[in-house]
Amino acid sequence: MKPKVYITRRIPDSIIARIEKECEVSIWPETDIPVPREVLEREIVDADGLFCLLTESVDKELIAKAQKLKVISNMAVGYNNIDIEAAKEKGILVTNTPGVLTETTADLTFALMMASARRIIESSNYLRNGNWKTWSPMQLTGQDIYGATLGIIGMGRIGASLAKRSKGFDMNILYYNRSRKPLLEKEMNMKYVDFDTLLSESDFVCIMTPYTPETKNLITYRELSLMKKTSILINTARGGIVNEEDLFQALKNGEIWAAGMDVFVQEPVPLDHPLLTLPNVVTLPHIGSASVNTRMKMADLAAVNLLLVLNNNPPLHLVV
Ligand code: NAP
Ligand code: GLV
Repeated sequence: MKPKVYITRRIPDSIIARIEKECEVSIWPETDIPVPREVLEREIVDADGLFCLLTESVDKELIAKAQKLKVISNMAVGYNNIDIEAAKEKGILVTNTPGVLTETTADLTFALMMASARRIIESSNYLRNGNWKTWSPMQLTGQDIYGATLGIIGMGRIGASLAKRSKGFDMNILYYNRSRKPLLEKEMNMKYVDFDTLLSESDFVCIMTPYTPETKNLITYRELSLMKKTSILINTARGGIVNEEDLFQALKNGEIWAAGMDVFVQEPVPLDHPLLTLPNVVTLPHIGSASVNTRMKMADLAAVNLLLVLNNNPPLHLVV
């Protein structure tokens, strides 16, 4: 008998076909509407494999309902949407999709740095709203990227790729990480500093850590007030790492100059969110890995991980 797999969103047909060759597949057919919790709760009961997205909360209660689940395959590198301990207790393997999205996410992070520093969205709106009357010496002036100091919090795969990009802009690189990376430090000519030094000396602070109990609210008003008044905060990691109320206050009070956000505590971010009222915040709908090629690779890798486990083989990327 073929194993049963539940896929929580419409993924590309070629990937569904690949899974269907070996499994009995049920799928939530929508592309832009997440699977309702009650459907997921029903489907997980007799599934052998779950192919899910970061939008699904695969928590203790959900995992408790699974009667024969062997694998939770997340189509994302971050896995903070999954209760890893609960899965481990039940002997369910959890897999993710690292690596294939690294460069694309680093590209987007750099794009956010540039858009925030050079006021790209604000300037485009300025023109479209009919405000462009003439060229003027200090009109829409921003901050320089070349030669600036880039502070990276979380020197993992994406952090290192971001550092690589910054070299082309003659940036100085500071980093703070859970563990030191001596080889990379040498290769990139970057400096390991303590957390507060990184905040106070950087022109750009980019967050590239996972979302964990240790990184929750890593950036609050205290940290923002240590930053330069001309500095820019970029978050393409996870929303909860930055305290959004504190960020709003810090931007209002001029503690920092701008912010670029691809991720939010609540996603989709509510349209009445205070941060959306500020012209110096560039906001994106969690599109870090969103290139056609990369999303295909992520879906493919998630399928490979799922099928390997269902065939009693080790997956390519095991979280636990
Ligand atoms: P990674 O290679 O695991 O890098 C994460 C880095 O963070 C590691 O170097 C790790 O340190 C460090 N770290 C973990 N906890 C820390 C802490 N408490 N303090 C300081 N450093 C800490 O992961 P990645 O592939 O670069 O991805 C990073 C995160 O980006 C993902 O978890 C995900 O949340 C986010 N992401 C977002 C998008 C998007 O669409 N916006 C796309 C992809 C990824 P060690 O080296 O000591 O382990
Ligand atoms: C996206 O946010 C990911 O973690 O892959």
